[in-house]
Amino acid sequence: MAANHYIPRETIDEIQSQNSIVDVISECGVALKQAGRNYQALCPFHEEKTPSFSVSPEKQIFYCFGCQTGGNVISFLQKHEGKTFMEAIEWLAERANISLPTRDAKSSARQKLINDLSELNRFAVKYYHELLRTGQHSQQAREYLKNRGVLSQTNQLFQLGYAKQQRRDLVKAATHQGWTVQQMVDAGLIKNEEQGPQDRFWNRILFPIYNARGVPVGFGGRALSDEHQPKYLNSPTTVLYDKSRILFNLDKARQSISRKQATILVEGYMDVLMLYQHGIENVIAASGTSLSEEHARLLKRYTSEVVIVFDGDASGLQAAQRGLHRLIGEDIRVRIALMPKGDDPDSFVKQNGADAFSELIDKAINLIEFQIQSAIQDNNIRRPDVKTQVVKDISTILVNIKNRVERTEYVKYAVKELEIDEGLLWRELRELGLKENPTQRTAANRKATSKKLSPREQIELQLVQSLIQTPELIFDIKTLLDYQELTNPHFAKIVQMLWDVSENEENVDIQNILNTCEDETVKSIISNALINKASIPNHHARIKGCLKKLKSFILQDVEQRIRSNALSEGIDDLETLKELVDLSNERRAFVQKDILESTQITPQADEETDNPQITGNIEKEN
Ligand code: UTP
Ligand code: MN
Repeated sequence: MAANHYIPRETIDEIQSQNSIVDVISECGVALKQAGRNYQALCPFHEEKTPSFSVSPEKQIFYCFGCQTGGNVISFLQKHEGKTFMEAIEWLAERANISLPTRDAKSSARQKLINDLSELNRFAVKYYHELLRTGQHSQQAREYLKNRGVLSQTNQLFQLGYAKQQRRDLVKAATHQGWTVQQMVDAGLIKNEEQGPQDRFWNRILFPIYNARGVPVGFGGRALSDEHQPKYLNSPTTVLYDKSRILFNLDKARQSISRKQATILVEGYMDVLMLYQHGIENVIAASGTSLSEEHARLLKRYTSEVVIVFDGDASGLQAAQRGLHRLIGEDIRVRIALMPKGDDPDSFVKQNGADAFSELIDKAINLIEFQIQSAIQDNNIRRPDVKTQVVKDISTILVNIKNRVERTEYVKYAVKELEIDEGLLWRELRELGLKENPTQRTAANRKATSKKLSPREQIELQLVQSLIQTPELIFDIKTLLDYQELTNPHFAKIVQMLWDVSENEENVDIQNILNTCEDETVKSIISNALINKASIPNHHARIKGCLKKLKSFILQDVEQRIRSNALSEGIDDLETLKELVDLSNERRAFVQKDILESTQITPQADEETDNPQITGNIEKEN
């Protein structure tokens, strides 16, 4: 969580001020070109032909007008490099030669252990890799990989290894390098047995397993023959390796994943290797385990969609159900691709090539479709008891989908395919704990900056933009507006944050708000407002106008409510009539009056006033 790091705010400010966003984004391989006071490039977060990605050196903000991704230099590293907030901070601190405060003694002892074991693993990876490449007794292993189609550059990239027949091979080599038996045990490389320390892996091809940052944390070892069991032997749980927290190949896949915003999840190490070799890079695997909650959370940092590829027999499906629910619980879209019978991704891509595989991925169906279609195929869906069961099954999935728009779409799909009543399905969902009212769901989830904003939301947006652009005005106007009066939830959230900060601090620091907020839509709205600054001529006047219009909307609302109450209960109530008349008068009077008259705001000499560029729907001062 961004808010829970141990780095003081001043240090973060210092780190941000010493790392120019333009330099950092350029160093990450984005070809920025100057365009006026900003820089532009083809957006690294979506495919496009003309540049809509903008960087403002003045505001230290990036924003893409195409995909609406935005944020500061820290958010950029999080999104583009897949770093956590802390990793981004550490990386920037190192880049600017700023030292971070050290943690306490206990955690630094742990850090030392982690560093030592990482180093030992690096040694082991290298040792085994050299044996595979050049070892005298590694001929069979090299043949094996060659027969399976592994090219030498793939072997090199993944640093595949070979552990020999002898069971004290690594023990000797590592001891010779100064590593202790205890360290090797701690790293899961050897086991202490009656006859002394023994290598864990022998006569196996080794797939080094790296964490998301590319540190080797363990191995998966494949036997060379069917007699040698188990087929795959994995590292045990260590300080570095926990199979429910590590995803194989995430280190190499993450760039491609964040560019495509999609991940392909396969079952085996070999599947990953072969797809990668064929140019499909956004591919990962869990090491012989179903996806855990930690896996889902980890993936959520990098991707919004996971395509799960099942082998032809689809036998693993039942077992994988729990993993699927975890992904959905993290608001990750899940689709399912099925391999033809008898194939796995490895054999399929070797035989049919990358394009054919990508086609299968494109055709992957979503989980609800999958459930419904397999129920329809397997059962007699017209039988009432079968249908009841299917509705129950898909309801448990639907209720876990966090994205409302998506959930509503699936509900409609299910209603159509199963020929059931929509109201009945919503009732089922509410019984399972869904709290929302179905009629409100789409409005709340719409992209906040899309064109479909209601007239009232458009005013709210203008207000929010002006507040972000001139936070110094917040102190004067916050008493005039309750954030709960905004109808758009994102705008309300932003105003709430602005109001909160202005309660506690002397300046409203927008960069700090970006650092503490994890809502992507909010980041997008803030970045958009900052990048657009040049186009607003007079903030003071604009805020004044927005408040005026909003207040009028609010009064209209109240009036409407009373009116419809009165209508349904009969309008013989004198009190109500009187209230209505008063309200109407108040509204009319209000529209004519300048509501800011009574406040201390004095129009400022605005540096932008002489800028003639005014965008379309901004109303001019009257
Ligand atoms: P599979 O048995 O489907 O093998 O296991 P595979 O990946 O197709 O392997 P090859 O192609 O025969 O070499 C799928 C995955 O399950 C885990 C491994 O991660 C493997 O890649 N597994 C399998 C184990 O951890 N232990 C085992 O004994 C078997
Ligand atoms: Mn296989």
